Formats: sequence, structure tokens, C-alpha cells
Amino acid sequence: MEIFKAELITSSDISDIAARLRAGELCVVPTETVYGLAANALIPEAVDGIFKAKNRPNDNPLTVHIGAQSDMERFARDIPDSAYLLSQKFWPGPLTMVLLRSDLVPEKISAGAPTVALRMPDNEVACRIITAAGDPIVATSANISGSPSPTTLAHVLDDMGGKVSAIVDGGDLELGIESTVINMLTNPPRILRLGSLGVEEIERVIGPVEFDESSAPASAHRHYSIGKRAVLIKSSLEKFNEYIADKSDFAVLCFDGESFSVPHISYGGRDDSSSLGRGLFAALRELEGLEVSAVFMRCPEGDDALSAAVKARLMKTADNNFVEL
Ligand code: TXA
Ligand code: MG
Repeated sequence: MEIFKAELITSSDISDIAARLRAGELCVVPTETVYGLAANALIPEAVDGIFKAKNRPNDNPLTVHIGAQSDMERFARDIPDSAYLLSQKFWPGPLTMVLLRSDLVPEKISAGAPTVALRMPDNEVACRIITAAGDPIVATSANISGSPSPTTLAHVLDDMGGKVSAIVDGGDLELGIESTVINMLTNPPRILRLGSLGVEEIERVIGPVEFDESSAPASAHRHYSIGKRAVLIKSSLEKFNEYIADKSDFAVLCFDGESFSVPHISYGGRDDSSSLGRGLFAALRELEGLEVSAVFMRCPEGDDALSAAVKARLMKTADNNFVEL
């Protein structure tokens, strides 16, 4: 397993990693959201390798990552005008669009559906590797299924160490929350996963969309779990303190500057949703490592898109155990 540093990467390193992908090996690449575990979509053993490395359920399809806007037409067909508009406005960037699959994309990666999810990451090294590989490249968050996505090299090594051929170390990633997923085949288009790109920003370009996470593949599986009971609490700090006063054997997920007499980990500034997005998964992984049986989590208070995306993930960590005080 070889580790390349993104900031020092050379053209011959890019060719080397692209050749590994063409040969069916698994590689981890940074994106602007979370680290992606990538493989050649045309090699069934490579695609199987992703499912094995992540212990991912077979009913959850994989996203084809593209290195250039024009690749949209290679991998999708009958593309609606609204998808062109979104791609022009938001690619490269944290938007994944579900479209009709072209014949170049194997059925296997879409769990048998006639669709394909496409995303062009806003990361130059990732795009260069994908373009150099030439074949369609699928990628998925490089975590064990059910766990928080990786946003640092340490997370990648924890989950994928020894299971992949190469890792590109892009440092601590910029956004920390995965892309927004939208199905462009329904009318109106349907948001399947809230993410780093806000729904309002999308609506400004293509008009109203609907939100129905329950129609997303694998929505019934556990996501972002930390292996212990978790409760998401929306309240003032004062009410939160009252709520936890009679509890025992727990830790707290809190905001910067807050202090508790029990183990507590901050995920960012209370009024700074981008810091919460960047810090969320690292904080959840730290909480997972603590020897407590429960975690009480401070809920983001903002009404912006990132706060909503962070809250949606914490709801999953909490298995919908939500309290408003
Ligand atoms: O930011 C991201 O999207 C990251 C980076 C690595 O690009 N990727 C990522 O991949 O989060 P993954 O596999 O963890 O999540 C992709 C989501 C899943 O919820 C999957 O069900 C959905 O996209 N998806 C993929 N293909 C689909 C399809 N054909 N139809 C509907 N949903 C699809
Ligand atoms: Mg994932």
C-alpha cells in the first residue's frame, strides 16, 4: 500500500495511480467533501472489492465520479436540461445527480436500476486521476459501511489501511460533509440526501424540488453510527445541562468553548455551520472510541443548508432519538 501526498503529487504519480485503477486495484482519493474509495467500474472484481472493503450492503449503488463536465454525456443518456443547468452551475462541486445510465456503465454498480449517479469532485488531483484512468471510475465514501465518513488520512487508515493499493493524502478535507444527492428523473426532482450544497441554491437554478430521503437506496440501513446509544438534543446550553444532570456513564458532543464535567468533544463553533460540517465526522469517531455507554449531542441551531445537513446526519447517529427542550 503506497501513500502519495496530494500537494507533492507528480504527473508520473497520477499515471501510476490511474494504472492501478485500470488494473482493477482499489485507491483512496481526496475530494472536497470526504475521502473516496475508488475502483474501475468495468472490472466486476474491482467493484466487488469496494463492497468487501467497506462491508457494504449490495443494494446500495455506487456513484460514477467524473473528471470533466463533458463526461456526463459518456455515462448518462436522455439528460434533462435541468441537469445541464445544475452541472454548469455546481460542477465541480458537492452535487451528485441521478440520471439514466448509458450503455458504458455496468448495471452492477447501480444495483440493477437503469440509473447512474454522477458527480464531478472539486479536487484537482482526483479529477486528474479519474481522467487519466480513462475507464468509468466509481467511488464511495472510504469508510466501513455504517460508520462516519473519513475526512482525514487517519480515518482512512483506520478503515481502509491494508485493503487498498494506494491512498492519496489530501490532508483534512475542506467541507467534511458528503455531496447533496438529487434524483433528476422525477418531476419535480427529488433530493435523496441533504449535503454540502444547499437545497435553496439548487432551487434558485431549476425551481422547486422535493425532499424524500426514504426513497433513497439503502435508506433503511444504519448510517453514521458510533456503536452506542446517542440522543440529539436541541436546546439552550442551560436546558441541556438540566437534561444531563441525572444521567451517568455518558459523553457529550458539544460546541467550541463549552465545558462539562464528563468527557466532551467539540465539533465546531455553535454559530459557524461550516466548522460543524468540517468537524462532525472526526468528533463522532472520537466519541466512538470513548468507553461510555451513551452520548448526548448538542443539535446545530442554524437554519442554513449546512446546519440542516449536519442535523440530518446526527439524526442517523441518534437512530432518530431526538429531544427538543
Ligand atoms: O461527497 C460524496 O458524495 C462522497 C465523495 C467520495 O464523492 N461520496 C459518497 O458516496 O458519499 P456514498 O456511496 O457514500 O454515497 C452515495 C449516495 C448513497 O446514498 C447512494 O445510495 C446514492 O448516492 N446513489 C448512488 N447511486 C445511486 C443511484 N443510481 N440512484 C440513487 N441513489 C444513488
Ligand atoms: Mg457513504
